[in-house]
Amino acid sequence: MHTSADQAPIPGVRARVGSGSPSPASIYLSRLLTDRAMLHLKSLGYPYRAGAEEPPTREELITGLSGATAAVITLTEKVDADVLAAAGPGLTIIANVAVGYDNIDLQAATAAGVTVTNTPGVLDRASADHTFALILAATRRITEGDRLVRSGQPWIWGPRMLVGLDLSAGATLGILGYGRIGRAVARRALAFDMRVLATSRSAIPGTVDDGVTFVDLPTLLADSDVVSVHTPLTKATRYLIDGPALRAMKPTAYLINTARGGVIDEIALVAALREGRLRGAALDVYEGEPHVNPVLLEAPGLVLTPHTASAGEATRDAMGMLALDNVAAVLAGNPPLTPVGTQ
Ligand code: DGY
Repeated sequence: MHTSADQAPIPGVRARVGSGSPSPASIYLSRLLTDRAMLHLKSLGYPYRAGAEEPPTREELITGLSGATAAVITLTEKVDADVLAAAGPGLTIIANVAVGYDNIDLQAATAAGVTVTNTPGVLDRASADHTFALILAATRRITEGDRLVRSGQPWIWGPRMLVGLDLSAGATLGILGYGRIGRAVARRALAFDMRVLATSRSAIPGTVDDGVTFVDLPTLLADSDVVSVHTPLTKATRYLIDGPALRAMKPTAYLINTARGGVIDEIALVAALREGRLRGAALDVYEGEPHVNPVLLEAPGLVLTPHTASAGEATRDAMGMLALDNVAAVLAGNPPLTPVGTQ
């Protein structure tokens, strides 16, 4: 555990906001952030304790949270009612360094009087870029080609060799969940001359906005050549893409997921790929993360990345800094910048 005692002297320790008590505010950081974000943390002037690059165990998380006024955590830390109870009454804010917050029991946090914030907006472009990288990798068979060349097997250019889907020859992208990241993906797809469909809770099916046609889920599944998932993981979206949903897709289609693993039934996906009911897929997120179900490793036409959709340098800086700015706001007695449930 790194502490601020190892660092440059910490200017004045501030009192906990709203408590009227003299107890000093302190920050627990569950994992080391980028260098720029760590400098930002130091510049806030609060004493802090920071974990390592690896995620803390549940026990380490509880120890870290105990006595802290504010916590900056990542999506690898599961915060439930027991963790919150063990953290004690001093905790005022948990700032998640992610836009998704399915790792935190919001009801329990609200009951414990703990504000929860996330990092919307700052990772849209990076996530959309990665989504597009996966779309291209799957449809243009980039990883297959890479493996072929590296295998040392003889190969020669051929009219039928590693042929894939031309995105810009009239292919349709279906965006499942039209939030900020979904919109950023749509902009990229339109630049590739794709037809773009999307499902959205707030748009009426049949309406068109900025070149995107809103449809219901069955239409999106049936009409898309590439379906890209951009919904948060909630009770309503768990296994939204299950066996029947996969059967509703074209057998020539591709499925991309950079949102959360639990939105897709991985076993059903593998069956669809094996049985030729889907042409390809690409996943950045997994249901049992960081464990990847070994059946995925053997599935044909599947491209895999290790939850790196937001892993751009500037983006990871911005995520850490926004989380810290939320903490700074709350510790200074101001409203959080990006509380969850209000975006
Ligand atoms: C998020 O912010 O929820 C992403 O999954 C992190 O990469």
